[in-house]
Amino acid sequence: MNKKLVSTMLCVAMAAGMLAGCGSSSSSSSASSEAVTTADAAATEAAADTAATEAAGTTKDPSQMTIGISMPTKSLERWNRDGSYLKEQFESKGYNVELTYSDNKSAQQNNDIEGLIADNVDLLVVAAIDGEALSQVLASAKEAGIPVISYDRLIMNTDAISYYISFDNYTVGTLQGQFVVDQLDLDNAGDKTYNIEFTAGDPADNNATYFFNGAYDTLKPYLDAGTLVVPSGQTEFDQVATAQWDTSTAMKRFQNILGSYYSDGTQLDVALCSNDSTALGVTQAIESDYAGSNQVIITGQDGDEANLANIVDGKQTMTVYKAVANEAVATLDLAVAILNGETPDASLIDKSGWDFDCTYDTTSYDNGTGIIPSYLLVPTVVTKDNMDKELVDTGYYTKDADFSPDRRYSLGGHNSGNEEHCEGISRRKGPEQCQFQGGAR
Ligand code: BGC
Repeated sequence: MNKKLVSTMLCVAMAAGMLAGCGSSSSSSSASSEAVTTADAAATEAAADTAATEAAGTTKDPSQMTIGISMPTKSLERWNRDGSYLKEQFESKGYNVELTYSDNKSAQQNNDIEGLIADNVDLLVVAAIDGEALSQVLASAKEAGIPVISYDRLIMNTDAISYYISFDNYTVGTLQGQFVVDQLDLDNAGDKTYNIEFTAGDPADNNATYFFNGAYDTLKPYLDAGTLVVPSGQTEFDQVATAQWDTSTAMKRFQNILGSYYSDGTQLDVALCSNDSTALGVTQAIESDYAGSNQVIITGQDGDEANLANIVDGKQTMTVYKAVANEAVATLDLAVAILNGETPDASLIDKSGWDFDCTYDTTSYDNGTGIIPSYLLVPTVVTKDNMDKELVDTGYYTKDADFSPDRRYSLGGHNSGNEEHCEGISRRKGPEQCQFQGGAR
C-alpha cells in the first residue's frame, strides 16, 4: 500500500482543481493554482491520473485496507447509528474497519486517533468532539499519508482534512425557525405576541452555531418586530449553548429559566431547541417546572427514539431528520474514490447514482486553513403527521408491532451501534430493503 502516494496525488489534483484544504505548502499551492492555465491544469490532472492508475494496483484491494472511524460518544443516540452504518457500509465493500468511540472526551479522541494512525489505517473518518482540538493528531495523520474525511462536524484549523461530509447545517436551523413561523402564523400575527426561548448545542461543535444561526436568522424579523419576545433576554449563542449537547445540562438551564421568568404565570409558547438531546431536557424541565397548561412548541433534530415517542405523545412538536444511513453511503463512495487516487468533486454525486439529494459545496465551509470541499445532504422536517411517511415507509424506522395507542418508534432491524444489523441494507437505496423485526404496516 502506498498511502503517501495517494495523499500526494490527492493534493496535486486538488491544487489543479483549485480546491483548498489539502497540501502542506498551501500558499504556494494556492498561488500556483490561481496561475495554472487550463492546459497546465489538464496536464497536472493527467499526471495525477497516471499516478493514480499506477498506484491503483497497490491500493485497490479493500481486504488489504483498514478504515479508521472515530466517533464522539455512544451517549448521544445518533452516533451509534452513524458508527454502525459506516462500519456496515465499509465492510460491505470488503474493507476492514476499526471503530472507536471517545466518551465525549477530547483527550480520549486524540488518543484513539493516535491509535488508529499507529495501526496504520488507510483512511480516517472523524466526527470531532471538539473541532478545535485535533490539529496536532491530524498533522500526524497527514504526515503518515492518511487521508481524513471530516464527518458531520467540520474539524477546524487543520490542513489535514481532504473533504467534509454532512447535512446542510444552516438549513437544519432554518427549517426549525420556519416551522415556528408557520405554526404560529407569525406573518398574520397582528398585535399578538409570543414568548420564545432558545437552546443551542455544544460550542465545541462547529455545527452548533450553524443550527442556531439558521433558526435565529429566520426568526429575527419577528423578534425585531416584537411579535416574538424572549423573556429571559438570552438570545446570544453563548448564552443558550449546551456543553456536549447534554440532556440534563439543557434541563437544568431550562428549569432556571422557567423559575426566573415564567413562575409568575407568563406563558411560554416556543422552546426552540437545536437538537433532540437538548429538546429532551427542555421537555423534562417543562414537565416538571412549567406552571402553564398550553402546549409549548418544541423543536429538535435527529429523530432520536425518545423524541419520536414524545412527538407521538404531543410533548415535542417536530424534529429535523437527517438520514445518517445516507451520510454513510456517501462517505463510503467518497472514501473509495480517494483511496483509488481520484479527486472527487461534484461529479461524484452523479457517478455514485445516489437516490438521495446531495450538493457539492466549495464556498461555505472554511476551517481556518481554507475552504474544505463539502458534500451536503438534505434534512427533512418530521412531525406527528408525516412521521410514518418519512420514517417508517422509507424504512428508516420500524414501529412497535402492536401499534398500541402509545406506539413507539425504534430503529428496528438496522439498529444503532449494536448487534442487530439489517443484513439487507442497500448502499444505493438506503435501508428500505431491511427486513424489519416489527414488520411494516
Ligand atoms: C450533529 C447533530 C447532533 C449533535 C449532537 C451535531 O454535530 O450534527 O445531528 O444532534 O451533534 O450529537
